[in-house]
Amino acid sequence: MSERERWATRIGLILAAAGNAVGLGNFLRFPVQAAQNGGGAFMIPYFIAFLLLGIPLMWVEWAIGRYGGKYGHGHLPGMFDVIWRNPIAKYVGVLGLFVSSIIMIYYCYIESWTLAFSFFSITRTYFGMTDFASMSGFLKSYQGVQTGYFDSILPAYIFLIITLAINFYVLKRGISKGIELLAKVGMPLLIVLAIILAIRVITLGTPDPVNFPERSVESGFAFIWNPNFSMLTDAKIWLAAAGQIFFTLSVGMGTLEAYSSYLREKDDIALNGLSTASTNEFVEVILGGSIAIPVAVAFFGIPATLEIAKGGAFNLGFVSMPLIFQKLPFGEFFGCIWFFLLFIAGITSSVAMVQPLIAFLEEQFKISHNRATLYVFIGTVISAHLVVFFLQYGFLDELDYWAGTFFLVIIGFIEVVIFAWIWGMDKGWAEINKGADIKIPKFFYYVIKYITPLYLLIILVYWALTDAIPTLLMSNIPSEQIPYRWLARVFMVSVFALLSFLVYKAWKLNKPRYE
Ligand code: ALA
Repeated sequence: MSERERWATRIGLILAAAGNAVGLGNFLRFPVQAAQNGGGAFMIPYFIAFLLLGIPLMWVEWAIGRYGGKYGHGHLPGMFDVIWRNPIAKYVGVLGLFVSSIIMIYYCYIESWTLAFSFFSITRTYFGMTDFASMSGFLKSYQGVQTGYFDSILPAYIFLIITLAINFYVLKRGISKGIELLAKVGMPLLIVLAIILAIRVITLGTPDPVNFPERSVESGFAFIWNPNFSMLTDAKIWLAAAGQIFFTLSVGMGTLEAYSSYLREKDDIALNGLSTASTNEFVEVILGGSIAIPVAVAFFGIPATLEIAKGGAFNLGFVSMPLIFQKLPFGEFFGCIWFFLLFIAGITSSVAMVQPLIAFLEEQFKISHNRATLYVFIGTVISAHLVVFFLQYGFLDELDYWAGTFFLVIIGFIEVVIFAWIWGMDKGWAEINKGADIKIPKFFYYVIKYITPLYLLIILVYWALTDAIPTLLMSNIPSEQIPYRWLARVFMVSVFALLSFLVYKAWKLNKPRYE
């Protein structure tokens, strides 16, 4: 077996893994979820999900990854094959390749908007669009959803190609010279930029004390953190919290396992996994929670901010924030760093989403790294067209619902069952603790074995009882979107079928031997 690539340094590995986790979810998805789901009260199900799902799955995924890496696998089909040793294991693992590839396709498109808006901020392109309607029109015309400031989708298209080119350039350079280097530069920069913005927000005070004395940044923080405990009886909040934990930590995507596969057999995963999760939570709760929502309250008041949050993450990030930048001194500068920080958060996550597929092609079909990267690049560019052109018909939302939400929980569940019940919890626990630099409390042995699978099972059963039928039948979807959403489903099924076929072929060509 040829020598696998390795992370060059421990700090590089931690930054890359944190970069994988810290993403658009931390700055856009989290504040919207918190604002919509009970403010401070949301943090209760959120932290419970972090403790009972996020951290345990983080360790499980790192352990599966490092163990699979020992056998030369940087992708979930190979890893499941190694620990389960059942002919269907590799096909179950296809879910990992599937989810990361589908998320990547739409995630990169959103990432490209952040690059574009960083440019539009410094060049003051949107300055002059001073109300919600005109700023929203600006965004929609950029997305090609309606005509307005932009009369074609060409600028969005160009920024998408640039974004994809940067992603694949990093990936082409490999693990240590590409992904690790990006994280070593990007993550400290991201944290500095986020701190600058958070300080700017905290020191805002009351922007218009004469006309709107009640609109202050203090009331913004009170709004996002004041707990509304009555909402905790609503199961939807618990689902939202678990969904946010999965998405933000990148668990259930197959990407943490891929990164961990480049560790050496005795490298620590206990402390590395915990550091990754903690860094992500610091960036999400402390920094992500201190920017977009508090500043929106300070400028627009609470009722309008609730409406903004209801309008979703894009509305918050790409409409409300640009309006605020136009009211701030040096707004073009703050706008530029806000969107650039989103871009860094995005790219350090999106490269992680492509890595498993590249590793799969390279390892199983014995093709060169450059060739594997090129094939995946071509596939991504072609697929991204569907997201670009059918954005207004809910194509992206459909992909996000299934790949970015539902299947993360499915993979998390399957993974923990394979790990704790098929492989065996004693073996699994020994694997997590091998080379560990911290002593993990034995409590987590039982959490991984019983509580995490049970928790996920309850979520899935609840989903099956309440959401499954209306979601599958698209009961609440506007009729004009339905054909496109079906197209999105056909597309996903086709991608899944193609990946399964590739797994079948790969194992036929080179049956891995594990002894
Ligand atoms: N974990 C990544 C994010 O939060 C995917 O955006």
